[in-house]
Amino acid sequence: MDALRIGMLGFGTVGRGVADLLLTHQELLSHRAGMPLRLVRIATRNPEKDRGLSLGGVEVTGNVNRVVEAKDLDVVVELIGGIIPTRDLVSRSMENGKHVITANKALIAEFGTELFAMAHSRGVQLNFEAAVAGAVPVIKALRESLAGNRIDLIYGILNGTCNYILTEMREKGLPFQHVLADAQEKGFAEADPSFDIDGIDAAHKLAILSAIAFGTHLDFSRINKEGIRQVSSVDIAWASEMGYRIKLLALARLQDGLLELSVRPVMVPDRSMVAAVEGVFNAVFVHGDFAGTTMFHGRGAGERPTASAVVADLIDLARDLRVGSRKRVPSLSVPVHHLCNLPIQNASQRQGSFYLRLAVIDRPGVLAEITSILTKYSISLSAIHQKGQSHVDAVPLVMVTHETTEARIGVAMDEIERLDSVLEPPYMIRIEAQLA
Ligand code: HSE
Repeated sequence: MDALRIGMLGFGTVGRGVADLLLTHQELLSHRAGMPLRLVRIATRNPEKDRGLSLGGVEVTGNVNRVVEAKDLDVVVELIGGIIPTRDLVSRSMENGKHVITANKALIAEFGTELFAMAHSRGVQLNFEAAVAGAVPVIKALRESLAGNRIDLIYGILNGTCNYILTEMREKGLPFQHVLADAQEKGFAEADPSFDIDGIDAAHKLAILSAIAFGTHLDFSRINKEGIRQVSSVDIAWASEMGYRIKLLALARLQDGLLELSVRPVMVPDRSMVAAVEGVFNAVFVHGDFAGTTMFHGRGAGERPTASAVVADLIDLARDLRVGSRKRVPSLSVPVHHLCNLPIQNASQRQGSFYLRLAVIDRPGVLAEITSILTKYSISLSAIHQKGQSHVDAVPLVMVTHETTEARIGVAMDEIERLDSVLEPPYMIRIEAQLA
């Protein structure tokens, strides 16, 4: 084999970055991969658009079949995103004997099991380093560098949009909607931001990480997801006052044979390393029984960081092909038919302490009504705050509980919500005081 012949599907931001990197570092890449990485063809909806790159002999076409069905390509790089039509294009590419590299987290998290099985049966590779945390090399680290460990905990900040919004809210004291609108204007947040701010994007990434770390099936639907729409300036301010920061945390924890999988806003100690991950940055923390805790930090999105991860997969592929290896390292660390189905911890059984925010009428006896319900469910408080605002009817009442279960908090909050003096559904944020 004298070159790796590459076809690309999609020529948006990441596609531009991959083309740029392949063309700029041709010699370096060839040296490292052991053969030239030759970008042959790109299929895009807008073949005429000027991307400001000098593409030399690269063909740009509007016809995806010129990539998916081509006989003169070894690998297809899928950078369209989403499930339709990518699931079909990736399957067809592999059926046609091509290796596939993708940055598509939704595709891997939701359809990975069928796609890896297909890759195995066709004898091709399907790689996806760019699908989780952009440039941060966590997929390879988990399946290779940490392969000797039993992993019991992975957590991290896997969505830069949410982390940017929460950072701006805290640093500038601005409300969620204001920061979101500003982020959209600057192009940091999508026009439809729901995948990011409702925790779906982070959950896709967590599904992939936990499959590799725990050898469990990719199962996005089993992740408990809650986004950041309800986080208010009041919560951010109280978190700061109590020595915490609010982060959208993706967490997978294996304890007593049960796997906890969640993406949700969490309070973390403001002196922890995870609290220091700010703005658009991503970070993943992995705890292994021999390695202890390792931390991977960097840019989780964007043209150049994502291209860096895609091209690393291309180099890996070329290195394997050069020595005639079909696939040295299984994509999910073990062959897909060796994955198990770890039981998931029931969310209501999770233990922890919680921050609770209520909007209550400021009148005598309200606090007594609320605390009597908490007492009924044996929920003990470690702190309670209410700043007097006697000129308004509703005031925020903030409480922090000692260790309890989410089941107890849940029933107590249902009862509290029904009180006449409580004006909005209570909002609750888990406190993770032990994270690094
Ligand atoms: N939209 C994601 C983020 C990047 O904001 O981190 C792509 O997964």
